[in-house]
Amino acid sequence: MSSNFNKIYEESLKNPEQFWKEISEEIFWFKKPTKILSKDSPPFYKWFTDGVTNTCYNALDVHIDQGRGDKTALIYDSPITGNKKQFTYKELKAQVSKFAGALSNHGVNKGDRVIIYMPMIPEAVVAMLACGRIGAIHSVVFGGFASNELASRIDDSKAKLLVTASCGFEPGRTVEYKPLVDEALKLANHKPDKTILFQRKGHEVKLKAPKEISWDEALSDAKDTDCIEMNSNEFAYILYTSGTTGVPKGIVRDIGGHIVALKWTMKNIYNIDTDDVWWSASDIGWIVGHSYIVYAPLFKGCTTVLFEGKPVGTPDAGAFWKIISEYNVKSLFTAPTAFRAIKKEDPDGKFFSKYDLSKFEALFLAGERADPDTIKWAESLLKVPVIDHWWQTETSWAISSNCTGIEMMKTKYGSACKAVPGYDVKIIKPDQTLAKPNEMGDIVVKLPLPPGTFPTLWNADKRYEENYMTNYKGYYQTYDAGHIDDDGYIWIMSRTDDIINVAGHRLSTGAIEEVLSEHQSVAECAVIGIKDQLKGQLPVGLIALKAGVTKDNETITKECVQMVRNKVGPVAAFKTALVVKRLPKTRSGKVLRGTIRKIADKEEYKMPATIDDPTILDEIKADLIKSKILNI
Ligand code: COA
Ligand code: AMP
Repeated sequence: MSSNFNKIYEESLKNPEQFWKEISEEIFWFKKPTKILSKDSPPFYKWFTDGVTNTCYNALDVHIDQGRGDKTALIYDSPITGNKKQFTYKELKAQVSKFAGALSNHGVNKGDRVIIYMPMIPEAVVAMLACGRIGAIHSVVFGGFASNELASRIDDSKAKLLVTASCGFEPGRTVEYKPLVDEALKLANHKPDKTILFQRKGHEVKLKAPKEISWDEALSDAKDTDCIEMNSNEFAYILYTSGTTGVPKGIVRDIGGHIVALKWTMKNIYNIDTDDVWWSASDIGWIVGHSYIVYAPLFKGCTTVLFEGKPVGTPDAGAFWKIISEYNVKSLFTAPTAFRAIKKEDPDGKFFSKYDLSKFEALFLAGERADPDTIKWAESLLKVPVIDHWWQTETSWAISSNCTGIEMMKTKYGSACKAVPGYDVKIIKPDQTLAKPNEMGDIVVKLPLPPGTFPTLWNADKRYEENYMTNYKGYYQTYDAGHIDDDGYIWIMSRTDDIINVAGHRLSTGAIEEVLSEHQSVAECAVIGIKDQLKGQLPVGLIALKAGVTKDNETITKECVQMVRNKVGPVAAFKTALVVKRLPKTRSGKVLRGTIRKIADKEEYKMPATIDDPTILDEIKADLIKSKILNI
């Protein structure tokens, strides 16, 4: 007998247009779509092409229209500053509609890009939603990125306006945003017309009128502004993510598909209803934050928590339990690294036992592989299902998961469960044939992708097609490798490009290498991601020096570490650079990064047949041992 889940899943693949048409009835449209899927120019598929709607209307106004305006939309809790605040749907709409007016007053029109570089404060959510209200395209930049990264995003998006704050707070340090923004604006070729800056209490900074205005000033003459009608295929936002080079990729999201898919996931994947409190402990600068702090819970009309803190150190390893018990959170979504951090600090759950978590029903993990040890530890502590699910910035919602709102499936430790309705996931082997169950290969998804995924890259159709849709015709290449077992469970084993995952943060080793090669003494370099017990992976740079360099190695490596911090940002967690005599290469000159990584991770490796000089691997191994990167 086919299970309920199997029936829904099969239906979604057999008749995707009918499947998503029915689901699209659940959202608010100014004009309902009659054309569900346009297949005119593959791989560029478009969902709900003639539909007219608005992101912000679906996040806020619709709930007020339906009589739920006094329900809590957003709970802000900041253990770092001690501030707490709650907003009903009506209150949040009031703030958003005023700020939308402020954006319009300062020249932002439909289709203009607005960069949001802010800490985890309600004003960041207000700015995102206000963009949606007037049809502007936001691009949120994570606060842990430095000026260079901010500048590259300003240049690529050609932002009209930048919204920022005077500072953010990390445990033990204040992140001054203004100097970072100033530097980014100096570096960028494109100059936004204005900056609106939110002054945090006690941390006000000087602004230079008329190009720099405070948030309060911008609001002072702003009028309430209604949602404008947007075509379903216009863009809601750009979110830049690491590519294989230093140039980030602008993932875009179209408006209609985004609302339809994300609203559906809240019940079907996460089993969340409108009366529930939901918490995603991520950052609005990442896709998890976009989709599950802001958009999906607000489209659903439930309550979402915005947490300005860390799993440990704000003030202790009980911070998560405190939030869950104080606000009766039903489910939490975070990265496995957060749980590894709590486990490290409080292995016996002493903090946990202080709180009442009786309303808590499930923990969802994603962003990196959830190691079975961490899942089992969390299960034994929380006594609720702990669910690993797999997704990417490109898709904005889970490709594989236990769809708990449809049917709770059994856990297989180490697997991210089954493909979610809408995703036809396959494994393709190096010989380009489809893999049988349990055979390893590249993980791909048959086109068209479901609504809410990325229809293209910002101003880069060609890059979209070449990068993701060319190696396997008719499929989206995820750049993850793994296998699917006999029961249809997906096992994500590794990336197939040079992306590494540091504490759930996606980083490009290529981008770090570009910075290291700028150092005057560096002839060539290779960055690899090595295993780390807390953060999953950590970047390590191997650098070979130019002939005749007289500076000592310690000074050079310190300078390299600082350069990466300044140019990519502290989030890269780049702390180790190692001077080596030479880098191992193939005869055609390709650096053997994979082999170096295997040596550092104590994995078995084969001597590559094409290696130029095998003795270099022994030298590298000796260097890794000497520097204690490799412990034997
Ligand atoms: N603004 C400025 N700096 C930031 C920042 C932000 N928003 N977020 C992180 N940083 C800085 C940190 O302060 C740290 O700087 P430091 O080198 O001066 O200490 C650096 O970037 C690395 O940060 P992080 O990766 O957070 O490491 P950590 O050691 O400070 O904390 C964890 C470790 C596990 C507690 C932390 O990584 C965590 O909470 N992870 C959750 C994962 C997550 O939310 N992932 C998002 C995708 S789902
Ligand atoms: P991001 O685009 O930042 O969300 O990162 C996406 C990448 O993170 C994926 O391509 C995977 O490599 C990795 N990832 C995300 N979730 C999981 C998971 N549950 N298991 C294994 N890897 C994951």
